[in-house]
Amino acid sequence: MSHKPSLPPSKMPHVSTTIFTEMTALAQAHGALNVAQGFPDLATPKALRQAAAAAMEDGHNQYAPMPGNHALRSWIAKVHHAGAGYCPDKEITVGAGASSVLYAAMTALLQPGDEVVMQEPGYDLYAPVAELNFAKVVRVPLEDEHALHQAVGARTRIVVLNSPHNPTGDVLTATQLDRLANTLEGTNAWVLSDEVYGPMVHDGREAPVPWRHPKLRDRTLVAGSFGKLFHATGWKIGWMAAPAKLTRELRKVHQYDVFSTGAPFQEALARYLVTEDARIHLNELGPIYQAKRDRLLQGLEGTAFTWRPAEGGYFQVLNVASYLLPAETDRDLAMRWTREHGIATIPMGAFGQVEPSVRVCFAKEDHTIDAAVAKFRAIPTSSATPVAKPPPSQPPSVPIQDSLRVVALQADLHWQDPETNRASFAAELDALLAEEPADLVLLPEMFTTGFSMDTRQAESLDADGGGVTRGWMQDVAQRHGVALGGTVAVRDNAGEAWNRFWLATPEGEVHAYNKRHLFHLAGEGKHYQAGSERVEVHWRGWRLLLQTCYDLRFPGFARNHGPEPYDAVLYLANWPSPRSDAWRILLQARAIENQCFVAGVNRSGTDGSGHQYAGDSLFVDMAGHILADGGGTGSPAVVRATWNKAELTAFRNSLPFLQDADRFGIR
Ligand SMILES: Cc1ncc(COP(=O)(O)O)c(C=O)c1O
Repeated sequence: MSHKPSLPPSKMPHVSTTIFTEMTALAQAHGALNVAQGFPDLATPKALRQAAAAAMEDGHNQYAPMPGNHALRSWIAKVHHAGAGYCPDKEITVGAGASSVLYAAMTALLQPGDEVVMQEPGYDLYAPVAELNFAKVVRVPLEDEHALHQAVGARTRIVVLNSPHNPTGDVLTATQLDRLANTLEGTNAWVLSDEVYGPMVHDGREAPVPWRHPKLRDRTLVAGSFGKLFHATGWKIGWMAAPAKLTRELRKVHQYDVFSTGAPFQEALARYLVTEDARIHLNELGPIYQAKRDRLLQGLEGTAFTWRPAEGGYFQVLNVASYLLPAETDRDLAMRWTREHGIATIPMGAFGQVEPSVRVCFAKEDHTIDAAVAKFRAIPTSSATPVAKPPPSQPPSVPIQDSLRVVALQADLHWQDPETNRASFAAELDALLAEEPADLVLLPEMFTTGFSMDTRQAESLDADGGGVTRGWMQDVAQRHGVALGGTVAVRDNAGEAWNRFWLATPEGEVHAYNKRHLFHLAGEGKHYQAGSERVEVHWRGWRLLLQTCYDLRFPGFARNHGPEPYDAVLYLANWPSPRSDAWRILLQARAIENQCFVAGVNRSGTDGSGHQYAGDSLFVDMAGHILADGGGTGSPAVVRATWNKAELTAFRNSLPFLQDADRFGIR
């Protein structure tokens, strides 16, 4: 027997799916307005987009210099950080968004046991990166300046500042900087100043910065982000300005992390930033966002929300105390609002905030802000909301259905891209089910990643076996009133990976089957654990057997026998086109020998390993006749059929072959 290496303890045990991903997935599943995630829906300036296209046409498509495009670094040093005397060659580094240079800088600076002082609530990157570097995180409340000063000691290596602040919108004052400078004097602490919302300050405020402060300049590292400045978060171009000796070290990490990033985008920025269009854009950024903040807050006047207007940035925090139901947290409330009121926000509990509140991103077109206001205004306060009855002690009775309308989505999958796959299935189902309702919807095997043997892509599950995709499936099932089936590459709490078939019902249950027959030819058995149980689901009077792809070759495992035979078997697959004939024949064989309906749902297109899939999704009846066929052209298809229980029973009664079936056991 080959030895399987065990997984060492997680380096990031406290990190799971972020609240941003979770709320965005929930927003997509419910078609809710998403003011949760911090991305603008404003257009990237046209001239900048054109500059990017031109940069590509002009051949800027190979690696940019490791520290970044030189002209871009010059602009950052001489214009953005004017007066600070940064040297573009030795003190400015361009990375994949502010995130990558924050990571590089913290990694370069931190030694095990060092302390990183950060304020709470705060952006979620700093603490995990500190912990990854075996540093100790010292958290202090944002509003308690005294606590910040008290926290600084001999072991402090970094004090994190973020102004304008995400999520509160607070802006630092000059006096606060002076006091911090005095506290840090004589220490080895560096100031990590995250200024990605840099010029976005409101109500005529100044935004004092540590890199202009005479006592702080030489102990400061500054992070900036062009994604935030030009409504282009997807470009992921950011920078770090830091004294030369530190820049030397952080570039060593950067060199082996991303090395260099987005050459045409850097070139485009370098060309665009020197134009009048860019100067005007940057000057207007503060006033434009201030007007959007005011539009949101004026719209909410007279409601039970309370707030302190954001001083900078593009987030507004709203206190929701008057809207909480008994025993509800702001997280529960944010989820409930997404599901029931069609508006997704970020609960501030996720940032460590104790006051029940939510964060709203107002970097949105005015019509989006108005739509958000209308939704917020329609939400009743807790005193006006009838308290939900406690759940009944008996499961709700589920209606028995004589007919099942079944839909298979034969789809191309986005390789190792769960978010895109979930979003595209959600959109497709919204359209399809609005057109024609269904009872059971089936997706292909590993529908979030494709048939990937890279188990780092497998979804991490929580202690209850739940995860983003399971939650998404439950939401889709409940929203559309359908049972939804699909298999997902998952990693459980013990670190083991499984190819897991989930069937989520509209009643809120999720049934799970772990694929038993692993496809050793592709190495599946090396990377995933094999299931041992056969799983039959009883739903709405139907018995459904869950099977996955390669299981189809092993008829003993699917043998239908006993006094209560199953009615349908569901095969979800990534079955490659060279063996299409076997797939079609075996699906019909399973239907004939088991006298049952069969669903064979296969993907189409080509996967990231170069395997091709013709599709050939089939619905077959109990006599082996094909009811619906997705075709073998390699293209996506929607396949529909209706299964009738009375017809099935009549067929079995007239031809009682099942009573002669052999009994197989699994060993
Ligand atoms: C405070 C803060 N810092 C850093 C970042 C990351 O910036 P980038 O997208 O440029 O990596 C964000 C993004 O939301 C942020 O809010």
